[in-house]
Amino acid sequence: MTEINPQEQQTDRNLALELVRVTEAAALAASRWMGLGKKNEADGAAVEAMRKAFDAIGINGTVVIGEGEMDEAPMLYIGEKVGRGGPEMDIAVDPLEGTNLTAKGAANALTVIALAEKGNFLHAPDIYMQKIAVGPGLPAGVVDIDDAPAKNLRNLARAKRCDISDLVACILDRPRHEEMIARTREAGARINLISDGDVAGVIATTHPDAGIDIYMGTGGAPEGVLAAAALRCVGGQMQGRLMFEDDAQRARSVAMGIVDPNRVFSCADMARGEVMFAATGVTHGAMLRGVRRFGYGAITHSVVMRSKSGTVRYVEAHHNYATKAWAAA
Ligand code: FBP
Repeated sequence: MTEINPQEQQTDRNLALELVRVTEAAALAASRWMGLGKKNEADGAAVEAMRKAFDAIGINGTVVIGEGEMDEAPMLYIGEKVGRGGPEMDIAVDPLEGTNLTAKGAANALTVIALAEKGNFLHAPDIYMQKIAVGPGLPAGVVDIDDAPAKNLRNLARAKRCDISDLVACILDRPRHEEMIARTREAGARINLISDGDVAGVIATTHPDAGIDIYMGTGGAPEGVLAAAALRCVGGQMQGRLMFEDDAQRARSVAMGIVDPNRVFSCADMARGEVMFAATGVTHGAMLRGVRRFGYGAITHSVVMRSKSGTVRYVEAHHNYATKAWAAA
């Protein structure tokens, strides 16, 4: 039996809750820009708030999934060190997942962080990734990224003991998915087309209230790693494959340490070891409520998960501007 070091366990638990403070800070900042049509400003506010909040966290963190390379991102760039010192950790962030959603005031914009011990996240470049995901409690391999939608839907319906027409597939509404959408409809499943935000789309498969049975399609690779981190904590299956638009992207992936760029990555390949995940809602969504502001404060709604315990904890925080002036800004 593995001995549990109580001090280590405590540090771990505290750290998971500390992470929420960082996603909360980013969500509070981004929420100021909700519906104002300014996605870059919303993103910038989230990045700055997240960067500042990291200074209080007791880790020796390195950003491995971030806002881009050092020369293209002023903060939270890949390789940047964050935290006030402590255990060596790798960090994956998306300070504002759903910049357009925030700019439009549409559902499901989140601020997201995942954390793992050094060397445990796939160093995915900012390119596309083909993804497929289903929730927990299903037989291993029930869906496969290489199978046609009809076959995956048939197998999923059988495993869930329902009809294909009972299933809902979440797909990003993009021209590149026209064929997949047509095949899914043809197979008889229903579809939730989302305009953005596939981290929430993947996580929705794990959340019974969200009414999503399967996520399919191509979105950002960094978002794929973040979604995989969440699924590692809550259960569920996901596969991802990098999609290259040119040789330069392929070379970049290899330079980032991806030995076989054509490989299909499982959840555990993308987020290994013990993983923590935190997200705060910016706008309302199926899993998280968005930031609600009132005269003297704001309420945030977050989720924090740890793969070690498998606990999914929702945190509603009431922030008071009188004692937390920065939250009002
Ligand atoms: P941003 O928040 O960076 O705008 O990303 C939103 C998003 O919808 C992701 O959730 C998704 O993975 C990606 O963009 C899809 O990319 P594209 O808009 O190029 O299809």
